[in-house]
Amino acid sequence: MKDIVVLGIESSCDETSVAVVKNGREVLSNIIDTQIKIHEQFGGVVPEIASRNHIEAISRVTKQALEGAKIQFEDIDVIAPTYGPGLVGALLVGVSYGRGLAYALNKPLVGVNHLEGHIAANYITHPDLKPPFICMLTSGGNTQIVYVKDYCEMEVLGRTRDDAIGEAFDKVARVVGLGYPGGPKVDKLAEQGEPTIDFPKTHFENLDFSFSGIKTAVINLHHKNPEVKKEDLCMSFEKAVTEVLIENITKAIEQTGIKKIVLAGGVSANTYIRREFMKLEDKGIKVYQPDLKLCTDNGAMIGAAGYYRYLNGDLSSSTLNAVPNLKI
Ligand code: KG4
Repeated sequence: MKDIVVLGIESSCDETSVAVVKNGREVLSNIIDTQIKIHEQFGGVVPEIASRNHIEAISRVTKQALEGAKIQFEDIDVIAPTYGPGLVGALLVGVSYGRGLAYALNKPLVGVNHLEGHIAANYITHPDLKPPFICMLTSGGNTQIVYVKDYCEMEVLGRTRDDAIGEAFDKVARVVGLGYPGGPKVDKLAEQGEPTIDFPKTHFENLDFSFSGIKTAVINLHHKNPEVKKEDLCMSFEKAVTEVLIENITKAIEQTGIKKIVLAGGVSANTYIRREFMKLEDKGIKVYQPDLKLCTDNGAMIGAAGYYRYLNGDLSSSTLNAVPNLKI
């Protein structure tokens, strides 16, 4: 079969990223232009500022991606921008740019669901990985268990009823004074702490999650007892949320009979979560984790997901629009 070269375009939040991906698995280039430094001073992402910076960056990042892959525009077979979920103004930059390129180059346009992109990051890291599997998707905007039956056939088995787990990490970090983005800072501090506090956890009959209770308990304890070591607070928080993730993933394994677990999304970069999930291998479950640099937003994962959508015949029209609350 002829090689298929996909240009993956990601602009759903605060990373402008463009990648060239061959046959869904081989990354020829993956340029990530992050705006973290710009948003840091505001303690979180400011949507309008994010859009403006995507506009400023997108052509430059695309040029760098082509140079990195040593190809020309004409060598691209498919243009695949993220079209949701995410910040509407930010998404629109990538979608409009992708639409323009597809029109100018007369190439197929394939809109990609950002969440499918996170899952597809694993196809790059693990060349042997094939569906079916169960995905524990943990990111800044989402926490859900996805039954990936085939590359383009998925069913959500459970999702958060309130905060996404990444939001809880970021909020805890802000309250204890670690700054933005909080997840990696909580991760680092927790590694020096002990799980001395037993935070309350919310359980449901089904596979849904709730993280707002744990988050509030951490914040209240910090306010009432500021002498509790931040390291122990972070470790105890991580232990509580991880126990909930593992409890639900265990139920998903029982429910489906699938013993293959795949982590995805920004929070899957977390040291403690990765370590605890690997322990499931002692119970005969195969655990896959994305390469650390592919956990957070990047164009390569979008290119990989775009490849499988293209093979599935899911071409987008030239009027593709951003869908901020797009679901799997
Ligand atoms: O997947 P992502 O880049 O963006 C979305 O698509 O939502 O995830 C960003 C989230 C943020 O909440 C960030 O704090 C969290 O992932 N994160 C982490 C770690 N690295 C990033 N959370 C915990 N531990 C980490 N090492």
